[in-house]
Amino acid sequence: MNLYFLGKTLGYLIVFFYTMALLNYVFKWINRRFSESMKKSKGFYKNFSGAMRFFVKNHRIFGALAIVFVVAHFFVQYFNLWFSNTGAIAAGLMVLQGILGGYGYMHKSAGKGWLYAHRSIALILILAIGNHIL
Ligand code: HEM
Ligand code: HEM
Repeated sequence: MNLYFLGKTLGYLIVFFYTMALLNYVFKWINRRFSESMKKSKGFYKNFSGAMRFFVKNHRIFGALAIVFVVAHFFVQYFNLWFSNTGAIAAGLMVLQGILGGYGYMHKSAGKGWLYAHRSIALILILAIGNHIL
């Protein structure tokens, strides 16, 4: 395995765990919209809610893993290749996202302001990551 392959793999691991963190919202959204119709099939809804619970329960771990791989990807790419401005923008947003999530988790009574910011940054991150790798 060479450093080019390692750097690339770490980059795609960020994308993977970012997506796993995002699925928290996607599953909750589908549940809000379609739970009534999904409940018509008991077996299906049981599987669906199991999957939703998995993504909600592990959300912080997926988000934290994405950030860990950002740091690893940064070190490999910077020392093996070069500094990337588009990568730095995406990484900065990802770190901010983690700080906001940690803040919201620790200050459960802090209102919803942080959550609106956290949701918005999740969307902006799609653009920032696309801008870096496409
Ligand atoms: C959220 C943050 C980031 C994500 C999701 C990410 C993801 C990726 C991915 C998937 C690739 C492989 C693209 C391909 O070859 O198809 C890549 C390449 C690269 N990344 Fe990142 N990266 C991030 C942050 C950074 C940072 C902070 C740096 C700063 C050194 C960086 C530097 C690079 C470089 C130099 C390459 C290879 C050449 C290029 O495509 O520009 N990345 N990144
Ligand atoms: C890649 C990084 C992350 C992304 C893309 C992301 C995305 C999201 C989104 C879209 C929501 C809204 C869900 C809803 O509307 O209910 C959310 C909720 C939340 N996030 Fe994150 N998040 C990330 C990282 C983190 C981290 C690192 C933490 C904590 C250490 C965290 C803590 C939370 C909490 C406490 C909530 C609200 C309750 C819940 O749904 O669990 N997030 N996140």
